[in-house]
Amino acid sequence: MDLRDKKILITGASSGIGQAIARALAGRGALIAIVGRHAERLTPLADEIVAAGHPRPVVLTADLSKPGNAESLAARAIAELGTVDVLINDAAVEGIGSYATAGDGSDSRALFETNYWSPMVLIRALLPEMRARGAGAVVNVSSLGAITPVAGTGHYPSSKAALAIATEAVRAELRHSGIRVVLVYPGFVDTPMLRAFMERENLPARMRRSLGLMPVGQPDALARRVVTALERGRKTVVYPRSYAMTPLIPALSRWFTSLLFGSGEAAAVSDTGPRRCCRWTPLRLAAGAGRAAPR
Ligand SMILES: NC(=O)c1ccc[n+]([C@@H]2O[C@H](COP(=O)([O-])OP(=O)(O)OC[C@H]3O[C@@H](n4cnc5c(N)ncnc54)[C@H](OP(=O)(O)O)[C@@H]3O)[C@@H](O)[C@H]2O)c1
Repeated sequence: MDLRDKKILITGASSGIGQAIARALAGRGALIAIVGRHAERLTPLADEIVAAGHPRPVVLTADLSKPGNAESLAARAIAELGTVDVLINDAAVEGIGSYATAGDGSDSRALFETNYWSPMVLIRALLPEMRARGAGAVVNVSSLGAITPVAGTGHYPSSKAALAIATEAVRAELRHSGIRVVLVYPGFVDTPMLRAFMERENLPARMRRSLGLMPVGQPDALARRVVTALERGRKTVVYPRSYAMTPLIPALSRWFTSLLFGSGEAAAVSDTGPRRCCRWTPLRLAAGAGRAAPR
């Protein structure tokens, strides 16, 4: 797909990976609409893109944790851009606590609304035009946590697993339609979301140490891979590359993750020093330790 002059809607564009994708797409000559909850977090990016010599992005605000807002966002995007050639579902929030404590209260439901239902609503709203043109693309940013959940992130892994499997199903439904569907599996990427996780006061020491062993990527590098996937018709992006085998060997990856990160709670009460798992050099090598380190 040639991205020049393509009209692209990007949620989660005010921060981290979504912001990097927005910059990269503007650099390719796309006409973008950038979405977040607060205009003041989006306007600096719009200014920066104009200063770099690209067309001014459309700034759209929407709280995607509330039912109904994704539908009206799609309508506003079409009104502003004329059409949407590419939809990028990046916005998400992370959960807190165990499955037992997170429950199904309003926070958990809002998390699912943001991470799963809003992307689904945007796809449903924007597909008919893409189908009519026989062209377009949808990019869904899931997480390797969908395959190898880390304890203590509430319903986040389930919401990302739901998004990943829906992405595969949508791709199957759209085969031969001319519409491309890209599934993005970030591992650890240095963004405010990851930093907030690592700075949690109650993060068990074992988990903190294990995080320190993991390869951590940069949003700009992931954004370049998303752009390449769109341009070259790739179906899946796994980043950083050290995690490439994770979706291919889910059972082994899950075993490895639980060995490294433990249950969260159990590690918190009996954390007295390095555990057997973390001293194993082969595990560190397999995890790609040393390629990058979290702050
Ligand atoms: N960083 C990682 O290590 C990592 C790993 C795996 C997967 N991911 C995935 O990568 C994507 C981007 O994450 P990130 O790390 O870049 O996170 P981030 O820096 O925290 O950015 C999250 C984005 O989502 C938007 N957002 C959150 N709640 C929203 C809501 N209710 N309505 C509208 N927008 C909302 C935020 O916008 P406002 O707050 O301005 O509204 C922000 O632009 C997410 O899908 C995440 O699950 C990240």
